[in-house]
Amino acid sequence: MITLKSEREIEGMRKSGALLADTLNEIKKIIKPGISSWEIEELADKYITEHGGIPSEKGFEGYKYATCVCVNDEVAHGTPRKGLILKNGDIVKVDMTVNLDGYESDSCSSFAVGEVDEKTQKLMDVTKKALYLGIDQAVVGNRIGDIGHAIQQYVEVENGMGDVRDLIGHGIQPTMHEEPNVPHYGKAGHGLRLKPGMTVTIEPMVNLGTWEIDTKVDEDGWEYFVSADGTNSAQYEHTIAITNDGPKILTSRDQNFDAKYL
Ligand code: MF3
Ligand code: CO
Ligand code: CO
Repeated sequence: MITLKSEREIEGMRKSGALLADTLNEIKKIIKPGISSWEIEELADKYITEHGGIPSEKGFEGYKYATCVCVNDEVAHGTPRKGLILKNGDIVKVDMTVNLDGYESDSCSSFAVGEVDEKTQKLMDVTKKALYLGIDQAVVGNRIGDIGHAIQQYVEVENGMGDVRDLIGHGIQPTMHEEPNVPHYGKAGHGLRLKPGMTVTIEPMVNLGTWEIDTKVDEDGWEYFVSADGTNSAQYEHTIAITNDGPKILTSRDQNFDAKYL
């Protein structure tokens, strides 16, 4: 079932999303060679909690942490680890959800550790722009396939990178994962018609090589994903609301879709 949210609910999600955006901003400040991925987890957990929020990935389907932290070829659901020390040239992705007063938000950013090589910088730029091209299609009257098509066209056809198929965006609120599915590939003009009040995430994962991914299992039996060919992967995710006024980015302090990203 797809629920349409009222303006009040969207406002609640916007506050939750602002706290998430601020948390990612704080994380950005500490990312440098020599820190462990565990330090990212600790900062996020503390910052969200101190500001009245709940890091809602914790407890989700047995997950134990406030953040998913993925490095280099890790695509999604990686766990923060004390022994994982970030090195110059790494790319690190931090994905988390916040629940504030019952309102859920979900966002991910990629960060360069020190200086990354040209290819990896390009990967980050392409993935970020792919997200914004997807958001640009999230308008009333369009269909879900328009979002995926715009992303796939840009990532694969225009940039020859791997557009991950197996992990997708999703409806959000009241829980983290709701209907509908939001694939990052697809056919323009196909799929569910977008209506005002829908709240969804768009979260493209892009690999430098193939789009295919493999699973790995950590010491706790938790399953996470890596690129099948070992190439670097990037991800950006926003929670957005589809409104009569265009797409509103709820996990940013700059909520209006802005052509400067294109
Ligand atoms: N935040 C992720 C998403 O974008 C979900 C993480 S699930 C967890 O959908 F269990 F790993 F936290
Ligand atoms: Co997420
Ligand atoms: Co998500």
